Amino acid sequence: MSDLRYLRELDDAQLEAFVGVAAAAFAVDVDAARAWIDAAGRELVRAVSLDGRVVGGLLFIPMGQCFGGRSVPMLGLAGVCVAMDQRRRGVAQRMLRATLDEARERGLALSTLYASNHKLYGSVGYAPAGSRFLARLDPSAVDPRLSSGPLRAASAQDYPVVEALYGAAAARTPGFLDRGGYIWPRVRETRRGLTAHGLLLLDEDSGEPCGYVYVRLRSEGEWQVLEITDAVAADAATWRRVWGAVNSVGTMVRRIEWSSAPHDPLYLALEHARAELRLHENWMLRVVDARGALEARGYASALSLSIDVELHDDGRDAERLHLEVSAGGARCSTSSASVAPSVRLDARGLAALYSGFAAPALLRQRGLLEGGDAAADEALGALFAGPAPWMREAF
Ligand SMILES: CC(C)(COP(=O)(O)OP(=O)(O)OC[C@H]1O[C@@H](n2cnc3c(N)ncnc32)[C@H](O)[C@@H]1OP(=O)(O)O)[C@@H](O)C(=O)NCCC(=O)NCCS
Repeated sequence: MSDLRYLRELDDAQLEAFVGVAAAAFAVDVDAARAWIDAAGRELVRAVSLDGRVVGGLLFIPMGQCFGGRSVPMLGLAGVCVAMDQRRRGVAQRMLRATLDEARERGLALSTLYASNHKLYGSVGYAPAGSRFLARLDPSAVDPRLSSGPLRAASAQDYPVVEALYGAAAARTPGFLDRGGYIWPRVRETRRGLTAHGLLLLDEDSGEPCGYVYVRLRSEGEWQVLEITDAVAADAATWRRVWGAVNSVGTMVRRIEWSSAPHDPLYLALEHARAELRLHENWMLRVVDARGALEARGYASALSLSIDVELHDDGRDAERLHLEVSAGGARCSTSSASVAPSVRLDARGLAALYSGFAAPALLRQRGLLEGGDAAADEALGALFAGPAPWMREAF
């Protein structure tokens, strides 16, 4: 395996070989796998080759993720796959480490993914750090009197205003993606042959957009399933109007589905909490560059404190970090040699802490945080506390 090579650019034959590996891994036909890669863009493909043969690959998707009100540069990974005859030999592990090196080089401080195998990603420093729930609702549970108020169809010309509304929502929601060109089409364009229809909700006085909803309808027998692929509203009244809009397009609908969370304002806007909410999956996060990540996110502006942490990361030399937080931001430097670190933190512990998913007590139980005292735990808990991180989409 010494000649396993990481490929940042693939020629046509290598790309086709990756398409074949991906089609087999994700149980789709080769044309569907090719269409997926074409839509993503070949520049996102990374692969590994062994003796000149492509034996695995993935999609390298730079974007951002919001924590503490700021977007932190993040690498999304999707489509991680290894040829069936090359599995359980460490190919994926080595490919992921090379990918993380590239992410670090490009200043992507975090990496996030949905994992089919937590052991694999845990072995290279990822940890469960946020959730995606699936909501299902019988449309008869939505109050039929809810009105959408004034609205119009959202077209491609409205993308900037949609992105501004989403951006404001993302900034107040830990875990929300700062979406790029890979994610946006998935929520508001045609996907797998189904068109997403966008409706812009307009302020009753000014006529300015104050929210939106995108839906996709698919047939199920004689009836339809309505998927809400994205929705944003500026306030509680507008969230109720989102449901009014969904009602108005849902006369053939027997089920409504969307990605959600127990504290999703779309879910909370339902007068009767009759939606069935099921945890679909915890997504995983890795802190790729601890200093960069700690300095890029925001913190509660009321906090002013400092802490010294010894970070243990996937077999690298321990890193001693001095973190100083004030005025909503952080400075991170190397701890002075004379200062004993308050705590020892595993990279996976840092990931779960960073997103606000896990408190220090849980990390101690899981063996990801050691040393220090109650005061250190209190400080770490306060720094990263926030509503449970989640996101609206899978990728
Ligand atoms: C997941 C996948 C990429 C792993 O590739 P791989 O090269 O076989 O993985 P590695 O050999 O690097 O595995 C490293 C560790 O991950 C874990 N792991 C990997 N595959 C596993 C499996 N099928 N079952 C249980 N653990 C597994 C093990 O801990 C393994 O270490 P070990 O073999 O010493 O026990 C490959 O199985 C695949 O392509 N699967 C289909 C598509 C898929 O699930 N992609 C991931 C989407 S997020």
